[in-house]
Amino acid sequence: MNTLLQTRGLSAGYGGQPVVHDIEIEVREGEIVALLGANGAGKTTTLLTMAGELPTIAGEVLLDGKPTKAPLHRRARNGFGYITEERSVFMGLSARDNLRCGGVSPEKALELFPELERCMDTRGGLLSGGEQQMLTLARAIGRKPRLLLADELSMGLAPLVVDRLLKAVRSAADTGTAVLIVEQYARKALKYADRVYVMRGGRIEMDLSADQARGRLADIEAAYLSTAALASNGNVKPAAGGAA
Ligand SMILES: Nc1ncnc2c1ncn2[C@@H]1O[C@H](COP(=O)(O)OP(=O)(O)O)[C@@H](O)[C@H]1O
Ligand SMILES: [Mg+2]
Repeated sequence: MNTLLQTRGLSAGYGGQPVVHDIEIEVREGEIVALLGANGAGKTTTLLTMAGELPTIAGEVLLDGKPTKAPLHRRARNGFGYITEERSVFMGLSARDNLRCGGVSPEKALELFPELERCMDTRGGLLSGGEQQMLTLARAIGRKPRLLLADELSMGLAPLVVDRLLKAVRSAADTGTAVLIVEQYARKALKYADRVYVMRGGRIEMDLSADQARGRLADIEAAYLSTAALASNGNVKPAAGGAA
């Protein structure tokens, strides 16, 4: 499958000060790539930079193999979905009107999430957190984007809802969408992803297939994602076997 989005030697941050360094990430058509790491590891900064919302400090972002600096939403209008950490439902509009604003028909959304049927006329602000994220995701993938970036889609949601969301993401990938998801919790992401990058302290420390990562889940969780790793300020040695 073609590589849709890629970074080479990417450094980025805030006010000219890099917080992520030398990032090499590749996302191909039809695959789900998961970016894992503890709070503060640099996942959101990386995603924002790949989306062109933050400038690069060094290195480059390539779209379809060509270096790009323009925000992706401008370069690839309609072909690009970005779900940020903030919930993006219009609280005063019904679910139906939220979909309309995103150019997605209620029918299309119901194909993805039949459970939204009973709340089509409910205002966004009255939906549960899970329903809001289903709505957000339906709006993002209902138009079959070539690329989907999603930051902490499942934050604070019940495990069953997380599975629903990630299954829908999987179905988008299976029809060709290139997907990059950020997840603080590895286990669920690994169930659905094809490949995994683990970040720590602003760097990519592991680059694994999902199968390899599943075999090393305990290592990943212990060394990179635990509060112990955070408490020691990132000075935890990579688990036995080392970074890939
Ligand atoms: N707007 C900002 N200005 C300055 N520093 C920031 C800003 N946003 C995040 N950071 C810093 O960048 C680092 C990485 O943060 P972030 O990319 O949000 O991590 P993650 O998404 O993995 O939790 C952290 O040290 C954080 O404090
Ligand atoms: Mg984040």
